[in-house]
Amino acid sequence: MKAAVVTESGGPDVIEIRDVPRPRVGPKDALISVRAAAANYGDVWLRQGRAPATPPVIPGLDVAGVVESVGEDIDANVVGERVVVYGVVACGDCEFCAADEPAMCADYGAIGESRDGGQAEYLSVPAANLVSLPVAVSFRQAAALPSSFGTAHRALRNRVVVDATDDLLVVGASGGVGHAAVLLGLDAGADVYACTSSDEKAAKLFDLGVTDVVRYGEDGFAGKVRELTGGRGVDVVFDSVGGDAYPSGIASLSRGGSLVTVGATAGDADTAMLQHLFWKQLSIVGSTGYNPADIKAVVDLVAAGRIDPVVDSIVSLEAVPEVHRRLEGRDVFGKVLFEP
Ligand SMILES: NC(=O)c1ccc[n+]([C@@H]2O[C@H](COP(=O)([O-])OP(=O)(O)OC[C@H]3O[C@@H](n4cnc5c(N)ncnc54)[C@H](OP(=O)(O)O)[C@@H]3O)[C@@H](O)[C@H]2O)c1
Ligand SMILES: [Zn+2]
Repeated sequence: MKAAVVTESGGPDVIEIRDVPRPRVGPKDALISVRAAAANYGDVWLRQGRAPATPPVIPGLDVAGVVESVGEDIDANVVGERVVVYGVVACGDCEFCAADEPAMCADYGAIGESRDGGQAEYLSVPAANLVSLPVAVSFRQAAALPSSFGTAHRALRNRVVVDATDDLLVVGASGGVGHAAVLLGLDAGADVYACTSSDEKAAKLFDLGVTDVVRYGEDGFAGKVRELTGGRGVDVVFDSVGGDAYPSGIASLSRGGSLVTVGATAGDADTAMLQHLFWKQLSIVGSTGYNPADIKAVVDLVAAGRIDPVVDSIVSLEAVPEVHRRLEGRDVFGKVLFEP
């Protein structure tokens, strides 16, 4: 089968599009014929050697497709089903797994990182990781969901709960997980403010329904956020960018507000902003990955027409190295999808 392979750590040129054997199907596994797979910034981290992976490895955290065959322990009736893959592979017996919280498992692994992923024609995964797709949800919509919408759902409906009384600021709002946070915030009835880097992306964010857009700027964006909120600041900041955006995010919060961090694309922050934290009685909440309940919830939201992932472009596997360059160049709005 055809697959994108990260052959070693390095630049986009270490990715080769190769013919490789179809993956092995263990007794409890299912073989998925991939119809759509998504790109994520996590693919860049993997390629750079910053993710728990040992090349050669096939990237691809997010996959939708059709069950082609199953191992001997799995009911063959699922063959032919349309599915999206829950990409977390956890230990299955720690305290968190027992509580249906595999996203918290210390042995947390993911397809497309600790094992081969879905930027390929076929993918083998434990059959327990399959989530059925209603007919109302396309393969393209489904492939856009797990890492972006699953993560944003866990962050904004579980780790912090955003509702119609809240003002929400999304930093990195034009990206995969960022636009998911925008759409889930709007679906909750919140007033959503978005931080982005260009007029073109700002226009697209207004089209999604945000109240206003701020830019990173030399002095950060907190002053502008305060101006837009009548001096009060926002109740919740969703941040996947980190770096210099983190202190601006903290300074954008109203008293008692919360910043939920899911990533650090721009690197770590130089300051914890301690005086802001205690004086304004703020909370910083970390969130990673998603549970099966999150992916089922976002599939249902798409099926109900309440959210619709934004597709930047649909390309073939040959474009994987070019897509890495675009992700690193901040030249993506929403999700890039591969159709093998
Ligand atoms: N914890 C988790 O489970 C989890 C899940 C998904 C993603 N993440 C993390 O969240 C981050 C975003 O992932 P994604 O897949 O949504 O990425 P993405 O689609 O590439 O979006 C990232 C966005 O961040 C903004 N950005 C700000 N500073 C940037 C910089 N220095 N380099 C690149 N982009 C920058 C860009 O938008 P503007 O130009 O408009 O600012 C860009 O569109 C990554 O760090 C990823 O590892 C974590
Ligand atoms: Zn576990």
